[in-house]
Amino acid sequence: MDRKRILSGMRPTGSLHIGNLHGALANWKKMQEDYECFFFIADWHALTSDYDITAPIQGYAMDIFVDWLSVGISPDNCTLFVQSHIKEHAELFLLLSMITPLSWLERNPTYKEQISQLKNKDLSTFGFLGYPVLQAADIIMYKANGVPVGIDQAPHVELTREIARRFNHFYGDIFPIPETILTQTPKILGIDRRKMSKSYNNAIFLSDTPQEIQDKVARMITDPQRARRTDPGNPDICNVFCFHRMYSDQQTIEDVDQPCREAQIGCVQCKQMMAKNLIKALEPIREQRAYYEAHPDTVKAIIEDGNERARVVARETMAQVREAMKI
Ligand code: TRP
Ligand code: SF4
Repeated sequence: MDRKRILSGMRPTGSLHIGNLHGALANWKKMQEDYECFFFIADWHALTSDYDITAPIQGYAMDIFVDWLSVGISPDNCTLFVQSHIKEHAELFLLLSMITPLSWLERNPTYKEQISQLKNKDLSTFGFLGYPVLQAADIIMYKANGVPVGIDQAPHVELTREIARRFNHFYGDIFPIPETILTQTPKILGIDRRKMSKSYNNAIFLSDTPQEIQDKVARMITDPQRARRTDPGNPDICNVFCFHRMYSDQQTIEDVDQPCREAQIGCVQCKQMMAKNLIKALEPIREQRAYYEAHPDTVKAIIEDGNERARVVARETMAQVREAMKI
C-alpha cells in the first residue's frame, strides 16, 4: 500500500507538557496509523534564536525524544530522527537560499511578530531570517505530501510551497507541493490560567512526578470569584473543572459540578480528586519514560536507526537535486 508521507518537527526547547500531549502529540499518534511519518528534532532550528545558550539543546533533544517514545510515537511506524545528524539538510538549505527572494522572508508574519516580541534578544541575524528556508529544506528533502503543524507554523509551510514551486520551475519537477495539515489544538490553560507554556512556568510536564503534579494542581487558580469556602463557585469558568472534564469520569464531574455551585464542595477537595485522575492518566507515560530512562542505549539505537533511514531518503533526494541543478 502506498501511504502518503507526512513530516513534522519540534524545536528542542524543553520537555513537553500536557498541552503538547493533547495537541501535536495526539495528532501524530493518530497519523502514524495512516501515513508514512517522518518526525524529527529540529535542533539546528533551536540555534536560530538560542545561538548564545547552546549547551542545553542536546539535553532537551533527548528529553523530547523520550517524551515521543513514552506517549507511543512508535519507531516501528515512524522514522524518528535528529536534524543535525543529517547534514544533507544544510546542503539543501544552501541551495534553496539561492532561489528564495528576500522579500518572501521579510514579509513572513511569524518573523515580524517574533522580532517585535523578543525585544531582549538580537534576532536580526541571517540565520533567523532564513529559518523558513531551512524549514523548507527539512520538508521537501523527504518529499512530504503533508505537514501537520499548529496555526503559528502555517506561514512557514506556505513559504515552503512557494520555494518548492520555484525550484520545480527552474530545475524540473522534483518536489511535490506539501499540504498544510492544521492541527486542532484544544486550548489548555496552565496553572495560572494563561495559555500553558514552558516559558510561562505554568505547565504540567509529562515527566512530572505524582508529587509535582499534586503540588501544581494545589496551586492552580480556580474560579477567581470564589474567595471563601462558603462562596458558591462557577465550574464553567474554572480551569480545574476543565481538567476534570479531560481526566475524570462522568460521575466525578457530576459530583463536582452542582456541589461547587452550591458551595457544598471546597476547592481543595475538588483539586485532590482531579489530581488523582490526572496522575492516573499520565501513569502509562511515566512508566514508559522510566523504562527508556533506564535504557539509554535503547534510545540511542532508536535514534541511530531513524537517522539511518532518514539519511537514505536524504541522500537520494540530494542526488536528484544536484543532477537537476547540474552542480
Ligand atoms: N519551526 C517549527 C517550530 O518551531 C519546527 C520545524 C522545523 C518544523 N522544521 C520543520 C515543523 C518542518 C514542521 C516541518 O515548531
Ligand atoms: Fe473550581 Fe472545583 Fe473550586 Fe469549583 S470546587 S471553583 S470546580 S476547583
